[in-house]
Amino acid sequence: MAPYMSFSVAVFIIVSCGLMDICSAGNFNQEFDITWGGSRAQILNNGEVLKLSLDRASGSGFQSKNEYLFGKIDMQLKLVPGNSAGTVTAYYFSSQGPTHDEIDFEFLGNLSGQPYTLHTNIFTQGKGSREQQFRLWFDPTINFHTYTILWNPRQILYTVDGTPIRVFKNLESSGIAFPKNQPMRIYSSLWDAEDWATRGGLIKTDWSQAPFVASYQNFVADACIWSSGTSSCASGVANKAWWGQDLDSTSEERIRWVQKNYMIYNYCTDAKRFPQGFPPECSVA
Ligand SMILES: *[C@@H]1O[C@H](CO)[C@@H](O)[C@H](O)[C@H]1NC(C)=O
Repeated sequence: MAPYMSFSVAVFIIVSCGLMDICSAGNFNQEFDITWGGSRAQILNNGEVLKLSLDRASGSGFQSKNEYLFGKIDMQLKLVPGNSAGTVTAYYFSSQGPTHDEIDFEFLGNLSGQPYTLHTNIFTQGKGSREQQFRLWFDPTINFHTYTILWNPRQILYTVDGTPIRVFKNLESSGIAFPKNQPMRIYSSLWDAEDWATRGGLIKTDWSQAPFVASYQNFVADACIWSSGTSSCASGVANKAWWGQDLDSTSEERIRWVQKNYMIYNYCTDAKRFPQGFPPECSVA
């Protein structure tokens, strides 16, 4: 009974995703606009692949046409290979204005053979300073890997190739703001940050290696699209497996494993930065 049930539920989700056009298994031409860098950003293979590049004169970037309010959103990235020191590939979700919410992935390049830093941060009501940084357990420049944000009313969950690395729970009951009213667009850019990105600016960008290129594919947004004040989920979320998803014990264990073995910075343990005491979510979570 149980396996049969979950199989049919899975089929239903896939089918309804396609029929109702809720999942957009992304064509970059349809889903994104190039907003910066002119021809340094290119959509290729009939919209299947997007490439950003960076040279001495400029970086490049794109943003989603849609705004989203909750969803499970996958993007596959292949980062700048070789000597990528000084480069930053940012991939993030953000609403607008001084009290905006934001969910960030930033990939800080490094010298050949040296590990990238995956930098994460979350803003609620305009307030960030929630950085956590990680090493990855693979070389992110050889193949595409999937970076996912699952954002529902209970949590924001970051996963990498399906492994959860960070969670920001809805702790509104403890007085901590949670992103839930402001639709966000998806943004990405490849830019030069040689002043700080690699070992605090010690290692500069090697422009003889330019142009630097990062690639994107397989964008999948199983998400609520916000348009003219209405959510595409207003008619119901029954077919959205991610909507009610809470952190299960397996995911909690995985996060602990990642944080123990791959986390290199956590704002919640940086006492120097918070002499008046840590932000409240550090003790509640
Ligand atoms: C680059 O590699 C060095 C040496 O392993 C490491 O200390 C540093 O954190 C790495 N990442 C960045 C972004 O500098």
